[in-house]
Amino acid sequence: MGLLQKILIPVLGLVLAFCFYSSRENFKPEMLKGKRVIVTGASTGIGEQMVYHLARMGAHVLVTARTEAKLQQVNGKLGTHTCTHRHRKANLTLQVVERCRALGASSARLVSGSMEDMATTRQLVEVAEAELGGLDMLILNHVGKSYFNYFDGDVGHVQKLLNINFLSYVAMTVSALPMLKRSGGSIVVVSSMAGKVGFPFTVPYSATKFALDGFFSSLRQEFSIQSVNVSITLCILGFIDTENAMRAAADVLLMSPAPKEECALEIIKGGTLRQREVYYRYASTKLPLLLRDWAAELLDLLVRQRYRPERLRAA
Ligand SMILES: NC(=O)c1ccc[n+]([C@@H]2O[C@H](COP(=O)([O-])OP(=O)(O)OC[C@H]3O[C@@H](n4cnc5c(N)ncnc54)[C@H](OP(=O)(O)O)[C@@H]3O)[C@@H](O)[C@H]2O)c1
Repeated sequence: MGLLQKILIPVLGLVLAFCFYSSRENFKPEMLKGKRVIVTGASTGIGEQMVYHLARMGAHVLVTARTEAKLQQVNGKLGTHTCTHRHRKANLTLQVVERCRALGASSARLVSGSMEDMATTRQLVEVAEAELGGLDMLILNHVGKSYFNYFDGDVGHVQKLLNINFLSYVAMTVSALPMLKRSGGSIVVVSSMAGKVGFPFTVPYSATKFALDGFFSSLRQEFSIQSVNVSITLCILGFIDTENAMRAAADVLLMSPAPKEECALEIIKGGTLRQREVYYRYASTKLPLLLRDWAAELLDLLVRQRYRPERLRAA
């Protein structure tokens, strides 16, 4: 190959890459005005921050969590101590909805139910259809409770987590797809570095996140072949400072968490711009992944060095 070709081809590649990325649309909050969005698992953490951003942008938000089901249980048969705790949690979720209204949401609603039950996923989507008349964006974010420790061999727990973290995502997608096809909408799937690389102490959780990548990346290919105008954005997150994540892992992890508010905004931007994947924070997620296929053992070692196993809580 001549010297000219050796230089010309990479330069041409760089120019094309620059043109491709610079011609992409920029994000503007107005893009979300009046859009109908479901955010699952929005009573706390990143989901809660996402609905606040969406509310400020003037979207219609449909917030989901288990909360109201808990409230009904509370009003039914539970004892006084549990009642107080659950009432508080239920009220907190209702406050999320109230706050969305105050921040300027076109509308805000709470639909509750456990994602362990596939019937719930259908009902959630039916509510969106009946109350909002359609759907523009489905943000799948909820996550079931798991442990942060060595794998304990409990297959039942893996199965339960697969239902909540994976199968309910699939079921919600299937139910919402007719509406999303009509609107040319978007599916946003909140995943994790633990769904791209093997992380210790989160074996069942990692399994569910890897499953999401397999399902949604394959589905994206089929959408492309069939010219289905529904985008799929997979979000690869590092350690984020939500209350639950901090409680579970802050003592053991040798890394500082990124802010949930900024993380939530990056997810919304990526979904709105119909990006294939979102990496947050970029440097601590995308860059290590460059090692994965070429130096997997080195990456494994670097990952292990970020943990202090001696600080794990006794199981
Ligand atoms: N925080 C991190 O460091 C981090 C890192 C990588 C990826 N992520 C991903 O980011 C997403 C959000 O994480 P987060 O830290 O914000 O989580 P979080 O604060 O623990 O919130 C989880 C949400 O899911 C809901 N939920 C839990 N079990 C449910 C069930 N059975 N049915 C329906 N809803 C249920 C919870 O509400 P109720 O309890 O009221 O139901 C809550 O709203 C997750 O997909 C997680 O995997 C987080």
